[in-house]
Amino acid sequence: MENKLFYKSLLDWYQIHKRSLPFRDVKDPYKIWLSEIMLQQTKVSTVIPYYRKWIFKYPNISSVANSDLEDLLKMWEGLGYYNRCRNFHKASKVICDQYKGYIPDDWTSFISLPGVGEYTASAVLSIAFGKKYAVLDGNVKRVMFRQLGFKKSSTQNMKRVKNRLKKLIPDFKPGDFNQSMMELGATICFPRNPKCDNCPISSSCIGFKNRKPEAYPTKNKKSVIPEYHFISGFLWDGENFLIRKRETNLMLGGLWEIPNFKINVDEEPILTFVKKVKKDLHLDIKMKEKLGEVKHRYSHFSVLVSVYSCKIINKESLNKEKQKLIIPREIASFPFSNVNHKIFSLMGYNN
Ligand code: ADE
Repeated sequence: MENKLFYKSLLDWYQIHKRSLPFRDVKDPYKIWLSEIMLQQTKVSTVIPYYRKWIFKYPNISSVANSDLEDLLKMWEGLGYYNRCRNFHKASKVICDQYKGYIPDDWTSFISLPGVGEYTASAVLSIAFGKKYAVLDGNVKRVMFRQLGFKKSSTQNMKRVKNRLKKLIPDFKPGDFNQSMMELGATICFPRNPKCDNCPISSSCIGFKNRKPEAYPTKNKKSVIPEYHFISGFLWDGENFLIRKRETNLMLGGLWEIPNFKINVDEEPILTFVKKVKKDLHLDIKMKEKLGEVKHRYSHFSVLVSVYSCKIINKESLNKEKQKLIIPREIASFPFSNVNHKIFSLMGYNN
């Protein structure tokens, strides 16, 4: 299919069939940027309520820059990949300090901001500022591999796709072109059972011609991910239990948690936990009953967490910035990871 016909068919289809989303057809680069960050690795239906709540509380970039990271993390709680939130906070400060609150519309400045990679830069610059940068996310990759009949996800094929997209993206409404490609991947060109009958560009699709769209690109064999064993403890002092704040540079940094330690296969779980609590938290504890187990899967590993009730016997002074004794009702005031919420559910403590 000729380039012009390709993008015309695509854009005509998009105008009629695009989903109505709260971040669609907005002009504000701040809102577009936020939505594109939230949408990374996250389904549209999950993002929508988070996006709405966030915009209500933080209507512009300076309101983000002037907020505490912990309040932002509370808003982000449950969305995962918390680096996105930490980086957005950092970037908002750069925008306010160095760009007078205006989001830059040139590639070099925008991609230098914390957390902004090629995907975010192409999406925001094209959608918010009409710049001609083609987006290549997982959905677009699948659409293009099928169009071009590529199976292998090699660097060379990725380069070919990028070059093809550069030629296809029109001067006129490049943001709509990018969104229509992503939309097609999300609503028609599914990984399995794609709806080719409803596809506006099936006539140029090699996957369709070969009657095997699902064969493009070849699926990676699912790699086996390791499972780690952790012990988490409710460290009780009367009615209160101890929570601590994770260091910002760690995974889930800035979130709060009940104390937990990884237990290696050669370690005796309970003894190890007691020792680590003593060493890290300067607390003597007595282990009480096991409360249950929780499993959670992250992208590259999974965890099996054994949860115990413990009693604090001897507490030296707490570091009030990083450790707190709270009652269960106060859980809602702090940002916690999904694993901690699973643990709280086990206890019947969730909202
Ligand atoms: N996925 C991420 N960003 C998107 C957008 N702007 N439109 C459709 N799907 C998307």
